[in-house]
This record gives sequence, C-alpha cells and structure tokens, in this order.
Amino acid sequence: MTVQHIAVIMDGNGRWAQQRGLARTKGHQEGLETAKKIVKTAADLHIPYITLYVFSTENWKRTEGEVGFLMGLIQKHLRAELAFYAANSIRVRHIGEAAALPREIQVELADIAAKTAHYTGTTVQLAINYGGRDEIVRAVRKLSGKPLEELTEADFEQLLDTAGVPPVDLVIRTGGEKRLSNFLLWQTAYAEFYSTDVLWPDFTPAHFMEALDSYAKRTRRFGGIV
Ligand code: IPE
Ligand code: IPE
Ligand code: MG
Repeated sequence: MTVQHIAVIMDGNGRWAQQRGLARTKGHQEGLETAKKIVKTAADLHIPYITLYVFSTENWKRTEGEVGFLMGLIQKHLRAELAFYAANSIRVRHIGEAAALPREIQVELADIAAKTAHYTGTTVQLAINYGGRDEIVRAVRKLSGKPLEELTEADFEQLLDTAGVPPVDLVIRTGGEKRLSNFLLWQTAYAEFYSTDVLWPDFTPAHFMEALDSYAKRTRRFGGIV
C-alpha cells in the first residue's frame, strides 16, 4: 500500500531524560538526532511527504527555560543543516504560525524554505508553533472571494498551511500516548494511527519500518465498502 504522507508526533524526550537522571533539555538534544535519522530514512525510501511535530501552540505553557532551549535548538538546527537537506535533496517547509516565533527563527525558516524549494526528493514539513485549531482559524480569516455557500472542502484546503500537500496516510506517535494533541486535525481525517511506547530518542529507523509494516496491513475504507 503506497504511502504519500507520514506525520510524526515526536513525544517522550522529557521522560527519556528523566529516566536517566538528566535534564529534560538533554532529551530534546537526543530527539533532534533521532529526527535527522528518521528524515534521512524517509528520504531514502522516497516517501513524498513527512511532517514532524516540533513545537505545538500549547508547548508555550512549559517553563521559560525549556521553551528558550527548544527555540535555540531549532534555530541552530536550521542554520547548520542546510547541507544535510541539500545532500538528500529534501525540500523544507514550515507549517504553523510564524509571526509568534522569535524573529531569528522566522528568518531561518524563510531562508531554508527558499534554498530548498527546488529539490525534488522528500518534502519535510516542520510544524513549529503549530496547532490544528489555530491553522483552521487562520484559514477562515483568509476566506474571501466566493460566496460562503459555494465554498468546497477543496477550496478550504487551499487556505491551510498544508495547501497542495496530500492528506496524511499514517500518524506515528512515540511515547505511548494515544491522542493527536492538536496535530493536523483536518489532514488526519482518514489517517491510520500508530502509537508505540518507545520514547522518541530511542526510536530508530527499524522502529519506523515496523510502523510502515503495520500500515501496510491496514484496510482503509474511507467510509466505503472494501
Ligand atoms: C516531545 O517530548 C518534544 C516536545 C513536545 C517539544 P516531550 O518534551 O513532550 O517529552 P515528554 O512527553 O515530557 O516525555
Ligand atoms: C505533542 O506532544 C507536541 C509535540 C510533540 C511537539 P506533547 O507532549 O506536547 O503532548 P501532550 O501534552 O502529552 O498532549
Ligand atoms: Mg510530551
């Protein structure tokens, strides 16, 4: 069964660190290494789209120290990894509300998106300050033109951050929780869900393949009869 778009809820960094008596920030550092390995694997497998949940609109509730660390890590990664994305022919896009992010991150995101736009391999969508509800409300604010009674789902989709990107086929969530946590609410309407207890820093390409194997065995009916 073909897979066009995988969305990953990279959860469990904090617990991974706590289990080792380390600061939560250490878990985020390790988690970034995992993210790179999984993106590389997706690119090697020619998966057209992978979306990573990096920072949610609700994650601002964390301590100033943790939020500041995450923002620093994101900025450093974007600045340092252009060569990684280029070497793998990966196109990078941002989804989420950019305006509320630190100015330097907005600049880096625009820069990496522009510099990788011409690549034809996997597209990586980085969900940063992303919330599914926020995305839908921002889309509604962009409505104009057609009378509302004539608005179609296809029209509305063009106003989402993911305009032009196919719907999610498979959501992978590490860290054991079985919830979406405000991730891609519209785009996951018919996605298959895969949850594993493995914490994100421990998640390997082999675990990723297990998720794909599980997906391959699903029967997707989309409300019909198969
Ligand atoms: C996911 O790991 C990373 C982010 C949400 C930024 P967590 O930090 O949520 O890790 P746990 O769930 O506390 O273990
Ligand atoms: C979801 O994880 C957000 C990211 C992975 C970026 P959370 O740790 O924020 O989710 P909850 O709080 O357990 O729902
Ligand atoms: Mg968590």
